[in-house]
Amino acid sequence: MPKVTIDDRTVEVEAGTNLIEAAFKAGVQIPHYCYHPRLSVVGQCRMCLVKVAGMGKLQAGCATQVMKDGMVVQTDLPEVKEAQKGMMEFLLINHPLDCPICDQAGECGLQDYAFKHGVAFSRFQFEDKRTYPGRERIPLGGNVLLNMNRCIQCTRCIRFTEEIAGTAELGFFHRGARTEIGTFPGKQLDNQLATCVVDICPVGALTSTRFRFAERVFYLDKRPSLCTGCEVGCNVTIEHRRGAIKRYKPRFNPDVNDYWMCDFGRATFERYRDLPRLAAPRLRPAGAGPGVATDPIRPRPDLAAPPPPPPAALPVSWREALDAVARHLRSRSAEGAVALLGSGFLTTEEAYLFAQLADVAGTPHRSVAVELGPERHIPNLQGGLTGREAAPNRRGAELAGLTPAAAEAGTVLDAASLLHGDGASRCGVLVVCDSDFGAAAWDPATVERLRRARVLIVFGWADSPLAQAADVALPVATHAEKDGTFVNLEWRVQRFERAFPPPGQARPAVEALSELLARYDARWANLGAPAVFDRLAAELPAFAGLSWHQLPATGAALDVPAARAFPEPHLQAPEDTAVGI
Ligand code: SF4
Ligand code: SF4
Ligand code: FES
Repeated sequence: MPKVTIDDRTVEVEAGTNLIEAAFKAGVQIPHYCYHPRLSVVGQCRMCLVKVAGMGKLQAGCATQVMKDGMVVQTDLPEVKEAQKGMMEFLLINHPLDCPICDQAGECGLQDYAFKHGVAFSRFQFEDKRTYPGRERIPLGGNVLLNMNRCIQCTRCIRFTEEIAGTAELGFFHRGARTEIGTFPGKQLDNQLATCVVDICPVGALTSTRFRFAERVFYLDKRPSLCTGCEVGCNVTIEHRRGAIKRYKPRFNPDVNDYWMCDFGRATFERYRDLPRLAAPRLRPAGAGPGVATDPIRPRPDLAAPPPPPPAALPVSWREALDAVARHLRSRSAEGAVALLGSGFLTTEEAYLFAQLADVAGTPHRSVAVELGPERHIPNLQGGLTGREAAPNRRGAELAGLTPAAAEAGTVLDAASLLHGDGASRCGVLVVCDSDFGAAAWDPATVERLRRARVLIVFGWADSPLAQAADVALPVATHAEKDGTFVNLEWRVQRFERAFPPPGQARPAVEALSELLARYDARWANLGAPAVFDRLAAELPAFAGLSWHQLPATGAALDVPAARAFPEPHLQAPEDTAVGI
């Protein structure tokens, strides 16, 4: 590989690497606007000019490749600095400089480079800047707005729709100083990845309708996490202010989502904001839950009187709630089966502990509920990933033990028989964890079917109709409030960490399940996600050799032959309800 020296630092790079990438490897930043590693090189902005030994004029770093050994590049010469200042001056002549009301302020390439490479005054004294009257708030599609006054015509957005999304809705219109961005006649910027143009726009010309004016970016706390919208497992950054999530942004992972994520995924946090929260454990007083009141084999004492309303579930402490769960699991199995219904939103660690609970209860009835979602394709250099399930971790939950043994498949009370059949009426105890498995938890018919179990226990973060129907409801953390791992559709296990603590009495399901299991065996006491992951990695062949703290930032591919030994799931499109994920 050829060696190149940039500002006295020598690095070895692949032949054909451009100078921006080579400098990055050497720890030198060459300023740039139009260059993006996944887009074609157009040399549009001229911000990346550098001096290459042996070449007369300054060269555009994005368009100059390292082809042979011994290339010498300088980015800190006075003539290079002068060129950068000149480009900044040109860009700022016509820029509105409306940073105080611009959503991009605080993460703007123009602000940053003006500070670092520009000058603090302007030689231009024109009263009238070039403006685009009436083009300050142009909806390009449902999720993206254009303010043409702020555009620096780098063409990143146009190239993105042509080269990454493959939809080519955007183009340049008019010529010279009047050049402007727009959609082609009859087209809308409405592809699945549309909001990615907001991420790659270096200035505040493109803003997200979802995030616009929601928060100043410099007030946001950021935490790396994963999207829960489907089983692709896009890496995201959760950006929140005091526990209120304001947006998800894609986080670079070349093996999964590269630099991108879909618009559906960006909206998935909104249910945390919009749906009512289960705030405290609730316990229905013993004796007459809804299942008992409608029990046909136990006649009412006075047939003429209307059935008594079911007693309301009352707030209790975690200890009382978990004691009640343990009591039900010990005593009710004689009156029907004990079934555990997991969800594809469980972390692998939660699913593992939930499966241990099934072992303790001695039941084969364990399964994972997953709904089909719209198809979502995320491009990457390996061809991309297409998600179809509306949950992030069906594979991890099954690997962790939430799938019946092969010999028992077909005879167990699985997700299909519980959610769509009459399976629950054969249950003495039905435990649902997490109840946020999709639209079904909000569907009255499904809730009625699950309520046929004599005792219904629900772990969930939302106060869904299913949680309200439960005899014991246990408030657990959302994925933003806990640590864990998900296994994506390529059997890649990825770790995410808590962005902020859960509110009220909610707690991570790992903690709650560990405390519940400790009532049977003290070795399960006081476990967090890292300890549970290390335990399951020591036990399950697919995770062999992995440990929580050594899991790479981009995830680890699981032992695929072992993983693929699991049967394909029964998937069903959600019924048409108003509240989905
Ligand atoms: S809208 Fe943004 S990304 Fe598109 S050309 Fe203008 S500055 Fe570049
Ligand atoms: S493809 Fe799936 S994981 Fe990625 S952002 Fe979209 S919904 Fe989320
Ligand atoms: S980054 Fe090289 S010309 Fe724009």
